[in-house]
Amino acid sequence: MNLTEQIEALKREKNAIILAHYYQTEAIQDIADYVGDSLGLSQKAAQTDADVIVFAGVHFMAETAKILNPHKKVLLPDLNAGCSLADSCPPDLFKNFVAAHPDHKVVTYINCSAEIKALSDIVCTSSNALDIINSIPKSQPIIFAPDKNLGRYIMKQTGRELVLWDGSCVVHEAFSFEKLVALYQKHPTAKIIAHPESETHILNLAHYIGSTAGMINYVKQYPDEMYIVATEAGILHKMQEQVPNTTLIPAPAVEDNTCACSECGYMKVNTLQKLYDCLLHETPHITVAPSLRKKALLPIERMLTLST
Ligand code: 13P
Ligand code: SF4
Repeated sequence: MNLTEQIEALKREKNAIILAHYYQTEAIQDIADYVGDSLGLSQKAAQTDADVIVFAGVHFMAETAKILNPHKKVLLPDLNAGCSLADSCPPDLFKNFVAAHPDHKVVTYINCSAEIKALSDIVCTSSNALDIINSIPKSQPIIFAPDKNLGRYIMKQTGRELVLWDGSCVVHEAFSFEKLVALYQKHPTAKIIAHPESETHILNLAHYIGSTAGMINYVKQYPDEMYIVATEAGILHKMQEQVPNTTLIPAPAVEDNTCACSECGYMKVNTLQKLYDCLLHETPHITVAPSLRKKALLPIERMLTLST
């Protein structure tokens, strides 16, 4: 049996489900039961009746799945699959930040640790952030953390003032404005689509801004176009499957002179071999202390209730 067949066999034996983010390697996306964005993955994790969840994504995603499923085993192929956004928001500093704004509601992007979620009123993802903010009365002041770029985008779209935490994603901040303009000048009929974790000057050039799933749905709607895609390059795999005759060009990164794309080093530490090993040995698995889980669950459940 090859590695893929061995994973399939183990999955059946253990009643496991493989959930993968669009930024995972092609081999992992191809073997997954479900590939999606952060919201879709949390919704799947909340609904599954599998006994074991293999989360091919990064730590905060697997941790969210564990918070939703305290009695299931949640495996992450490599515990080093972190996230620069989650790391940019240490709980002790964030606790002080929240304490300094006592009358504020706390809305946090799902890309954060369980400790940060536990300090939040409601969680959001890039696909429901505008709806979540709009669900809060206009007179209510809000802290938004940890992504300042997504926060600025929400402020622009909703016309509301948010108190922003100063965090960001290393991958989405790596796009080069100059190189993107030059690429667009070379392909003036192309549409630029961008993830809202990108910086404002990149978003200002975009014809469409949305989550990874939102970007795929957008190109499906207009499959004849040529697109410049400003998000992690892993998305191109499923996107190209959906629009096989459309030209997709990854947006160029500042430092990258070898390949014209941006890859998340955290997402890419997971490999098919590590996925097989973790399913076989049922480790590494995610643990969340019961008292922390209880506090972190409420803001996640509030988000899921508001999202269809
Ligand atoms: P979405 O999956 O919500 O599009 O977010 C992208 C991302 O950076 C996940 O870490
Ligand atoms: Fe975190 Fe950015 Fe990687 Fe997403 S792409 S996991 S936000 S570092």
